[in-house]
Amino acid sequence: MKNIVILISGRGSNMQAIVAAATSQHWDARITAVISNRQEAEGLAFAEQQGIPTAVVSNKQYSTRSEFDAALQAQIDQFAPDLVVLAGFMRILTPEFVQHYAGRMINIHPSLLPNFTGLHTHRQALQAAVSEHGATVHVVTPELDHGPILGQARIPVIAGDNEESLAARVLEQEHVLYPSVIKQIIDGTINLRDQH
Ligand code: GAR
Repeated sequence: MKNIVILISGRGSNMQAIVAAATSQHWDARITAVISNRQEAEGLAFAEQQGIPTAVVSNKQYSTRSEFDAALQAQIDQFAPDLVVLAGFMRILTPEFVQHYAGRMINIHPSLLPNFTGLHTHRQALQAAVSEHGATVHVVTPELDHGPILGQARIPVIAGDNEESLAARVLEQEHVLYPSVIKQIIDGTINLRDQH
């Protein structure tokens, strides 16, 4: 039985999709905690309703990124994770933190990487006038949004699309893609330590 810790910063809809898939597909894994850097994160209530332990490590209480990451790491490690899942966790992580979870931390990003790293990916896609957009699940490495790609979901950009419509259609795909990749990791179909 693998232990999964999910990190969120807000709504947590990807986290909810993962929790739902873990239950309905009887994963050989359990979500041991949902941790947020924001007390106000809406997703925490859902996790609590599901009986999943939650914790908040507020970045506002730390003056440096290193101190925050060390506190976050200590909190995460109390839940003995085999896999750390970033699901809308909007913090840049220190190389030390990333190294500590090398080969066991993944992220979902709302673009077809390597296109459109960073923020406002739907706006970036519209500005670049691409015909296809989507989401990517990747291994977390020290360089933001650059780790080995584990899976992607694509949608067409259609006439009249705006940031909101693109975000909604991409998010729908994220909710399928992220649980699917995590299940493959749990089943051993994807081996994170083979990814370079
Ligand atoms: C998702 O679209 C996710 O891909 C994105 O934030 C949203 C979180 O939604 N993540 C990033 O932009 C990471 N840089 P959620 O809280 O409802 O899962």
